[in-house]
Amino acid sequence: MFKPIKPFFTLLLMVSLAANVSAQGSLPVYLNEAKPIEQRIEDALSRMTLEEKVAMVHAQSKFSSAGVPRLGIPENWMTDGPHGIRAEVFWDEWDQAGWTNDSCIAFPALTCLAASWNKDMSALYGKVIGEEARYRNKNVLLGPGVNIYRTPLNGRNFEYMGEDPFLASKMVVPYIQGVQSNGVAACVKHFALNNQEIDRHTVNVTVDDRTLYEIYLPAFKAAVQEGHAWAIMGAYNKYKGQWACQNQFLLNDILRGEWNFDGVVVSDWGGVNDTKQAIYHGLDMEFGSWTDGLSKGASNAYDNYYLANPFLQLLKSGEVKEEEVNKKVRNILRLVFRTNMNTKRPYGSFGTEEHALAGRKIAQEGIVLLKNNDNTLPINLSRAKKIAVIGENAIKVMTVGGGSSSLKAKYEISPLDGIKNRIGKEAEVVFARGYVGEKPKAQDGLKTGDVEEKRSPEELTREALEVARTADFVVFVGGLNKNNGQDSEGNDRKSLGLPYNQDKLISALTKVNKNLAVVMISGNAVAMPWVNEVPSIVQGWYLGTEAGSALASVLVGDVNPSGKLPFTFPVKLDDNGAHKLGVYPGKGEQTYNEGIFVGYRWADKENIKPLFSFGHGLSYTSFEYGKVTADQKDMTADDNITFSVTVKNTGKREGQEVVQLYINDVKSSVPRPVKELKAFEKVSLKAGETKTVKFTIDKTALSFFDAAKHDWVAEAGDFKALIGASSTDIRQSVGFRLK
Ligand code: BGC
Repeated sequence: MFKPIKPFFTLLLMVSLAANVSAQGSLPVYLNEAKPIEQRIEDALSRMTLEEKVAMVHAQSKFSSAGVPRLGIPENWMTDGPHGIRAEVFWDEWDQAGWTNDSCIAFPALTCLAASWNKDMSALYGKVIGEEARYRNKNVLLGPGVNIYRTPLNGRNFEYMGEDPFLASKMVVPYIQGVQSNGVAACVKHFALNNQEIDRHTVNVTVDDRTLYEIYLPAFKAAVQEGHAWAIMGAYNKYKGQWACQNQFLLNDILRGEWNFDGVVVSDWGGVNDTKQAIYHGLDMEFGSWTDGLSKGASNAYDNYYLANPFLQLLKSGEVKEEEVNKKVRNILRLVFRTNMNTKRPYGSFGTEEHALAGRKIAQEGIVLLKNNDNTLPINLSRAKKIAVIGENAIKVMTVGGGSSSLKAKYEISPLDGIKNRIGKEAEVVFARGYVGEKPKAQDGLKTGDVEEKRSPEELTREALEVARTADFVVFVGGLNKNNGQDSEGNDRKSLGLPYNQDKLISALTKVNKNLAVVMISGNAVAMPWVNEVPSIVQGWYLGTEAGSALASVLVGDVNPSGKLPFTFPVKLDDNGAHKLGVYPGKGEQTYNEGIFVGYRWADKENIKPLFSFGHGLSYTSFEYGKVTADQKDMTADDNITFSVTVKNTGKREGQEVVQLYINDVKSSVPRPVKELKAFEKVSLKAGETKTVKFTIDKTALSFFDAAKHDWVAEAGDFKALIGASSTDIRQSVGFRLK
């Protein structure tokens, strides 16, 4: 029998290792992953021609930019968006290329993620969407979006994380880390002050420094300094008269100067307007410019980009120094080394069951139970034998539409199908459309799946009421629908009200059946004139591939709802600062006169009772808060203070509660919000179980931005820690002093 001689094999191994080492030794520095990244960057840069450098700083197709083929440096490939990996489009057009292997898992919109108030959900989201991007060979994911919810009319609010800078800051970080653990860069957008879609390409935002730093920048800062985002996307709007994608103040002074950002600044698609500003004001990569060449279909239209031939000529003539392009290329090379030249990054996965289930879990954690009189929900299946599902949103495809976040999903379970799948065997499910939205245009060649409707609105109402009258339980599924002006990029909503006469229909339904749950699908607050007539309301968001199963699981109580609102639902538009002060939408100019008083900060200051408050969300169980204690009475500026509170599940089933800590500055030299969110924790409690939740803060939680000093200041004096279940449901408070 042949026996392997061990020493022989050891020798072979050593020889091959030695060969490997010598191969590494002969590698040029930029290809040697053992070398420090900055050395590799300088080495690559030193080998590149001017033309190769300029080719890297602008697009070569809709979603890609050139690498350096001669040196084996790959292209950069970007993909939308925050909620799933966009279908492949043609090289030069927005239309889908017709691939048959690019159907993704659609994840819940970011409002839903924010509504989970669960950082673990954010980490999971980032990991799975990063895996999808990686598998599709994209090295930059164009998301997440963290523009602050300033007005409920903003068409893109659904893509963002709500109205509170602290909540958005905490939720954005794990998302970025999850994405980037796949060797894919998160590209945080839209930096900054892109808070409306109307006039987005031209509006100039005027905002005072304190408001900028306290409200509109924190989530971006956290993305850069805690999430270590490798990319950031400029916004379309102007700030201080300069477009945000070529903005000295935002990009050079703040992003790079104050925050030491070392990633790439990517323009929004068509966000560049001037070569000189694009050169000098901190932009690295230009995408989507609508040059004449491109609209006329010239084959080399990309050469006309502001950072293409016009830049090259300025460099060649010596009018612009080569160092200007070098700065940009360094950032791009850093991106490439971190992503698609990192040989150790994983390979990703795409369209898997695991990803779909992750999406479902996030959806289940983000769905918010807004109202539930007399335990109308969950649906009692031992009593309800006939269930009427009413409303177009029960059958509407919601992964298509809305603009650049539109997706070609592998599948999408509608609310109606989700309900049927879950309870079809236990009860009869009947459907009536009830109302019809306008027919959306197919986007990027994607089918919206809309079913044609020939009946008149009156006929639809009649049918809905008839179906509702004979049912044991009615689930109305309505809201907005991602059509133009109904939660969609490029346009805002015209009013807070529901479209398509839904208010009338809902009121009529309450008259024929009291066992009614209204499910709102939207990424925005809507007015609810029928709120007192309806016993239960669920905020359902845009939930992606597993939308219907997630909704059904909450409606029947397989899952106990635990989401909390990431923004305020005002009763009427005038309950919102930007609207009350008449600044929005402005004409070319938008002055943020409400200052720091955005969302609940405005409602608190003006003593306005919201329809539903920031942080609000019910459960099928109940929670009792014990007394809050502080570990000390006085803290110093270099100290921490810890608050503890017990939370008990006093109901009959397991549930999760989001315990929220707000800080109130009792006396201050400047106007301050009545309270500001400074910590939160989602805790899971079995029936009867009690847990102690601890929050530790330092002076940053007490500080405001002093514009004159251009720094954060915590003034000595009295503060209160307010602990509650929402911004208006404060259960406990304790005072303390900053010495
Ligand atoms: C949007 C971006 C998006 C880009 C590429 C722009 O219109 O504002 O958010 O990433 O298009 O599709």
